[in-house]
Amino acid sequence: MTQTAALLGMYAAALALSFAGCTSHTSSAPGGKKSFGTVDGKEVFLYTLRNAHGMEARITNYGGIIVSLIVPDKNGKPGDIVLGYDSLAGYLRTTPYFGAIVGRYANRIGKARFSLNGKEYALAANDGTNTLHGGLKAFDKVVWTVDETYAPAEPSLALTYVSKDGEEGFPGTLKVRVVYTVTDSNALRIEYFATSDAPTVLNLTNHSYFNLADSGRTAVLGHELLLDAGRFTPIDAGLIPTGEMRSVAGTPLDFRTSSQIGARIEAKDEQLLLARGYDHNWIIDRTGNGLVRAARVAEPKSGRVMEVWTTEPGIQFYTGNFLDGTITGKNGVAYQRRAAFCLETQHFPDSPNRPEFPTTVLNPGETFTSTTVYSFATQ
Ligand code: BGC
Repeated sequence: MTQTAALLGMYAAALALSFAGCTSHTSSAPGGKKSFGTVDGKEVFLYTLRNAHGMEARITNYGGIIVSLIVPDKNGKPGDIVLGYDSLAGYLRTTPYFGAIVGRYANRIGKARFSLNGKEYALAANDGTNTLHGGLKAFDKVVWTVDETYAPAEPSLALTYVSKDGEEGFPGTLKVRVVYTVTDSNALRIEYFATSDAPTVLNLTNHSYFNLADSGRTAVLGHELLLDAGRFTPIDAGLIPTGEMRSVAGTPLDFRTSSQIGARIEAKDEQLLLARGYDHNWIIDRTGNGLVRAARVAEPKSGRVMEVWTTEPGIQFYTGNFLDGTITGKNGVAYQRRAAFCLETQHFPDSPNRPEFPTTVLNPGETFTSTTVYSFATQ
C-alpha cells in the first residue's frame, strides 16, 4: 500500500470515531502504563503505544506530552526523534512546550485580548504584550484524565480535559478530548474533539520538537523540507500576523520543492530577521477541509522520512530559534539552537482578532474536530 492510500484508510477510520467516542473494552494503552510522578497532588502516568513494526510512542497524561517517539531508520535501527526530558521533573522545571498539547489557543493572540460577540476578553500576556500557547497554566501544564474505557484495535491513548469557564481568560466551559494512536502503518495520528457551553475561540496543536537524525545532538539544518503551501502569514516584530496572506514565491519561505532547512535560513530577509529564523504560519494548499499533506521532511543520513497530514488550514514551521543550549534533555543532551524543528498544525495565529482568517470560533451545539497524522517511512 502506498503511504497515501494508507493515510486515506486511516482517515476513514478516524472519521468513524465519534466525540463521545468509544467502544468499551476492558483494557487501555497496549504496551503498558507506569507511574511518571505527581503533579498538583495527582499521580500521572507514562503510557507506551507500540506497533509491530518498531514504532513506539511514550506519552504522559501531564500536558498530553509525547515524551519519546521511536521510529526505525533506513537500517531498521530504532531511534528517538523528539526532544524532551527523561523524567517529569524536567517538564515541571522548564519547557518550551516539548511534545505537549497546546491550547486553548495555540500560538499567539495579539495584545493578549480579543472580542467575541461584542464582549472583550483579557488574557495573560506571557510573551511580551501577547498571549502565547494559551496562557500561564494552559493545556500543556494540566493533568489530563485518561479514558481507560477506550481501547480500539490499534494502540491508542484517549485523554480528556474540562477547561472551566474563564480559565486563562477564555469564555465557556470547554470539554476537550485528544486521542493518540500509533497505527500499523507507522504513523502517529492525533485527533482532537471539543465542545463548549458558550461561544469561545479554540486552536489546538501538538508541540513536538523533531530531529530525525540524532535526537537533538546536532542542528536540523541538513534535513530536507517540503511544505505544501504557496502562501504564508507575514509577521510583525512581536511575531503577530499583519493580516496579509503573502505568496512564498521568490522568498526563503518557499519550500514548495524540497530544500534543506539551512539553505536559506541566514538570508537577509525581513521575515527571517524578525523571527531569528523560521517561525511562521504557512497557509496549506487545499480545497475543502479534508486530510491533506502539509509537509514532508527527509533526513539523508538516517533515511527517515516524515510526512504531516492534517485537516487544519495552517502549519507553523519553527526552527528551534530560541533553544540556546541551556536545556539539558534526554540522555544528557544540551539542546543547542536549531537542534529541532516543529511542524505545528493549526489555525492561523491571532485569528480571533483577524476576521479575514478562517474562524476559530466554537459555538455551543457544535463539535470541534481536527486530525493530524505524522507518518514515517525510510528512503
Ligand atoms: C512559536 C515560537 C515559540 C515556540 C515555543 C512556537 O509555536 O511559534 O515562537 O518560541 O513555539 O514556545
